Amino acid sequence: MRVTIDRLGHLGDGLATVPEGTVFVPGVLPGEVVEGDLNADKLTNVRIVTPSADRIKAPCPHARTCGGCQLQHVADSFVEAWKASIVSSALAAHGLPAPIKGVATSPPHSRRRAVFSARRTKSGVLIGFHARSSVTLVAIPECRLLHPDLMDVVTGLQELAMIGGSRSAELSMTVTRSEAGADVAVTGGKPLDSELRMALARIVEKHQFARLTWEGEVVALRDSPIQRFGRAVVTPPSGAFLQATLEGETALLDAVREALGPQQRVADLFAGSGTFTFPIAEFAEVHSVEGDAAMIQALDKATRNTQGLRRITSETRDLFRRPLQPDELARFSGVVLDPPRAGAEAQTRCLVLSTVPVVAMVSCNPITFARDAGILVSAGYALDWIRVVDQFRWSTHVELVARFSRPS
Ligand SMILES: C[S@@+](CC[C@H](N)C(=O)[O-])C[C@H]1O[C@@H](n2cnc3c(N)ncnc32)[C@H](O)[C@@H]1O
Repeated sequence: MRVTIDRLGHLGDGLATVPEGTVFVPGVLPGEVVEGDLNADKLTNVRIVTPSADRIKAPCPHARTCGGCQLQHVADSFVEAWKASIVSSALAAHGLPAPIKGVATSPPHSRRRAVFSARRTKSGVLIGFHARSSVTLVAIPECRLLHPDLMDVVTGLQELAMIGGSRSAELSMTVTRSEAGADVAVTGGKPLDSELRMALARIVEKHQFARLTWEGEVVALRDSPIQRFGRAVVTPPSGAFLQATLEGETALLDAVREALGPQQRVADLFAGSGTFTFPIAEFAEVHSVEGDAAMIQALDKATRNTQGLRRITSETRDLFRRPLQPDELARFSGVVLDPPRAGAEAQTRCLVLSTVPVVAMVSCNPITFARDAGILVSAGYALDWIRVVDQFRWSTHVELVARFSRPS
């Protein structure tokens, strides 16, 4: 079958209209004429007949087999415009404009957190990422996405999988880069006994990992896997959320600071371990609220150990079930919201009943962002601007920071 691609869908597949309906085509671009074999609603064995001017040679040699990236064949300028258009169309569905000012894309080799999969094989260990929609594992020695420090960890991970993995199950190995070495958390491994513990600890020592957590239990702590948020030194709990790249974190933080302006009292909601809290506390008092008690403990500890900041208070609280109420919000002149993909509907509905003049909303899901933006705008907030932040380059993931304001 020969088709012309109309546009890219949200998962990065090309969409073509044929008399029978829509056909999904992987690895293509709008305007391209392609041929392939039709299987249900998907085109396979795809051949590009007329390539787009935005098509490039994939920078990564694993692009064809690895499922980690979806947009390696596309020029950065196209991806930026496409990600911005995803935000615009989500907002348009709520009748809202999209005053987007710029897209900040993280460079190659900058991802500082990754989840590897590993499996014991007859001859050793296979470690890497899954092929697209598949259980097949693909080794990725030339990966263009990950920070070199994460690539350096792979040999140590192989040794962990060799002694701690079985041939029947796949291990999931979350690795976070820290100044003190890799912070590694493994699930799917053999149950711990004293022999395994000692062997794992030897590998941690040999490869200078900072921390190893096995099925939720810290089995080796060689050094605290610290992160720096502003002037604070924080040890996030194992496996805790961390912005995917340092460049992405900086872009988000710059936009949050710009959105807030010179506020005196700020609520940092969905605060994690304090990514935004500590830099904001350079100029404002901050109340940080987060659902995960261990993250708040890490934030509190860093607060006690950091000098020279404005006052920081904190609270462990489920903001879906118990959002900050209008009377609690009354003391803040600015609010930062950085919810998970589900968004912050309950908190937004309380915000519109408050007097808070400025909201900086960080979002990793344009659909829930647009819903929450609609709630704010219908209650009188103006959507001043949006900055798109792409710290998941070559993927279909979209993140952003938006400023909302109204007269106090
Ligand atoms: C996108 S992360 C942002 C964290 C932090 N702002 C940062 O930049 O590192 C979302 C945070 O929301 C927290 N969270 C998820 N559901 C929550 C809830 N119902 N109530 C409060 N916090 C929640 C998660 O634990 C996570 O730390």
